[in-house]
Amino acid sequence: MKRVFVLGVAVALLALAAGCARDAGGDAPVVGFSQVGAESEWRTANTRSVRSAIEEAGFRLRFSDAQQKQENQIKALRSFIAQRVDVIAFSPVVESGWETVLREAKAAGIPVILTDRSVDVSDESLYVTLIGSDFVEEGRKAARWLLEESPLRRGEDREGPVRIVELQGTVGSAPAIDRGKGFREVLGDDQDYRIVRTQSGDFTRARGKEVMEAFLKSEGGDNIDVLFAHNDDMAIGAIQAIEESGLRPGEDILVISIDAVRGAFEAMMAGKLNVTVECNPLLGPQLVDAIRAVQEGRELPRRIVVEESVFTREQAAEVFPSRQY
Ligand code: AHR
Repeated sequence: MKRVFVLGVAVALLALAAGCARDAGGDAPVVGFSQVGAESEWRTANTRSVRSAIEEAGFRLRFSDAQQKQENQIKALRSFIAQRVDVIAFSPVVESGWETVLREAKAAGIPVILTDRSVDVSDESLYVTLIGSDFVEEGRKAARWLLEESPLRRGEDREGPVRIVELQGTVGSAPAIDRGKGFREVLGDDQDYRIVRTQSGDFTRARGKEVMEAFLKSEGGDNIDVLFAHNDDMAIGAIQAIEESGLRPGEDILVISIDAVRGAFEAMMAGKLNVTVECNPLLGPQLVDAIRAVQEGRELPRRIVVEESVFTREQAAEVFPSRQY
């Protein structure tokens, strides 16, 4: 008898939660947003931008932090589907493994908008649009700076190849795959530039430092010319490791990274980071526009790309005051 009662209460609560998503707060759409985590300065700025844009638009937000785990994101998406939200938006931790849950969203008639990172699915109709950066181009920009503008650019006299170590982002994530691809594409088969070590630092400062320490201790670690970090946080962690090893980041080892967060500008102004390729996290307003379009039944382009620049340490002091993240 007691069990039947508990079960009844649980069912009633679930039904209430599902109803709440649509009923409370009038007609404002309910948006379920599943964020990757809080692994970097970039991510924190992205979360702030999404939250404030959705709030300003008057939409109702169901926010979930996946703590960089795909299984948490899948759970969050299923919970949004159960709550019958109007739109699901998410930044996928990794590229693959989304087909099933996205089919569930489609079957429930809930449109899905991707922000920041892409998914690898066979059926393109499983999401409406992807709003975010061109990560391949970011990798290309990083390599172009090295080959064309850095103190180790092509044509400069030196003995032996330029030895590069690479701190990759989260394994299987779109930015890690694409930035590595763009960087390699520009290096081509030029034997004067060699990636001698590559390992993931999971986009965090702590892992960036640990992996850089390992690079420096490994064979040939006393002979590294360039660090290419897939984000600023890993670069900042690695800079600490380089300094602790008695070397000068930015001088003995050139440091190239991606994001252009304020922490990177501080490192550039201190002369420890040479260049950062911008990756704009302020996607909230574009997400709101896309949600409005979906609500009004307007067509959206499959891909909404964000405009971005490259900043060197020579420009850092001048640009820093105007940085928003
Ligand atoms: O997907 C964007 C990347 O994810 C940013 O470069 C990085 O800082 C973040 O964690």
